[in-house]
Amino acid sequence: MASTFELKWGILSCGWMATVFTKDLVLDPAASRDVTDVKHTVVAAATSSDAGRAEKFLSDCGVPSGTAKAYGSYEELVNDPNVDIVYVATPHSHHFPHALLALNAGKHVLCEKAFTVNAEQARILIDVAKQKNLFLMEAVWARFFPLSIEVRNLVASGKIGDVKRVHADLSLLNDVETAFSPTHRMVNMDLAGGALLDLGVYALTWVFQILYHLDEDATTPKVLSHVQKYAGTGCDETTTIICQFPRATGIATTSIRVGGDVDGLGTAGPAMRIYGTKGEIQVAHPAWKPLKYRVILPQEAGGAGEWQVRNMPDGGWYWEADATARAIRDGKIECETMPWKETISIMEVMDEVRRQADMTYPAAIESTAH
Ligand SMILES: NC(=O)c1ccc[n+]([C@@H]2O[C@H](COP(=O)([O-])OP(=O)(O)OC[C@H]3O[C@@H](n4cnc5c(N)ncnc54)[C@H](OP(=O)(O)O)[C@@H]3O)[C@@H](O)[C@H]2O)c1
Repeated sequence: MASTFELKWGILSCGWMATVFTKDLVLDPAASRDVTDVKHTVVAAATSSDAGRAEKFLSDCGVPSGTAKAYGSYEELVNDPNVDIVYVATPHSHHFPHALLALNAGKHVLCEKAFTVNAEQARILIDVAKQKNLFLMEAVWARFFPLSIEVRNLVASGKIGDVKRVHADLSLLNDVETAFSPTHRMVNMDLAGGALLDLGVYALTWVFQILYHLDEDATTPKVLSHVQKYAGTGCDETTTIICQFPRATGIATTSIRVGGDVDGLGTAGPAMRIYGTKGEIQVAHPAWKPLKYRVILPQEAGGAGEWQVRNMPDGGWYWEADATARAIRDGKIECETMPWKETISIMEVMDEVRRQADMTYPAAIESTAH
């Protein structure tokens, strides 16, 4: 039997996302998802200031006692010789300096979405990874789900003909004023808050994972967009983006004010619609964790298919962790499921949306100094 490749993780920051990701890492790959070629070990975690909190984090995540180091600074974490890869889960405002810190210490990096604040920061990180021959990827977990792979394969098979349009939405009904204090990362401009970088990136992911690949020489689409701002902080609240690709159009919509699945029961209909010349694929909300899709053909070709349900009992972040481990095992520094040029292209679209809306983040977090 082929040996199992082990990847040793260091977790940079101990917030919500770091917690759910680390809980997935400690699951047994064979039992949770029938994977035996790779496995994950959490060897260290760090908060920005308090080793005791990192210790508690490790215990809360189910990392076996005494098997991982707890640090009170990110510098100590990236310099731990036992760490192979650093998982960056700070707010997106801080991905650039923190991913850079890890790369400069010679570590592979898996960095949460949105990858950076702007496209130039993304280009710099990718250049550094290339120079140092280190793996680097934006952690867009939704791309790695079996359902996403199935849908991409269905599109490639021609089942719905030539795709001409994709409509993707990720909108979460919130009374923004009471749901988030002005300092909360969802609305705080100092933390690159707003719908666009936090939720819009998933709607764009659906547009891109279908349409960007229709052309071999894919480039960033032309963008027409509209932003409604949140008066409380000036971040974007409800944003609509039309992406014109050479042969198709993508419409990505996002909001932290209105909802795409108001009753939580799917009554509103599918959040993603992929329109082809022979039929349509629909994917149910939410764009970040798609679990249901169906194909609709004209009546004479079979009509509407049943909803295909792909439930996942656990979090589901392990799929991207497994893909990361396989890439590193195979000596790759880029993963084909989330290619660098696509990450840059999505960042370029978001830059353009902000340019059209005259929306900039504070200079400190737009900075590309390195
Ligand atoms: N893939 C997904 O499903 C998913 C879901 C939610 C969020 N995310 C992404 O994950 C990232 C983190 O989101 P989250 O919800 O986990 O946020 P969170 O709970 O606020 O955690 C962020 C962590 O970053 C650390 N941090 C470092 N510098 C910071 C600063 N200047 N301000 C605030 N926190 C700072 C914090 O402290 P310590 O280091 O001291 O702990 C905190 O634990 C975001 O980029 C978000 O887009 C991804």
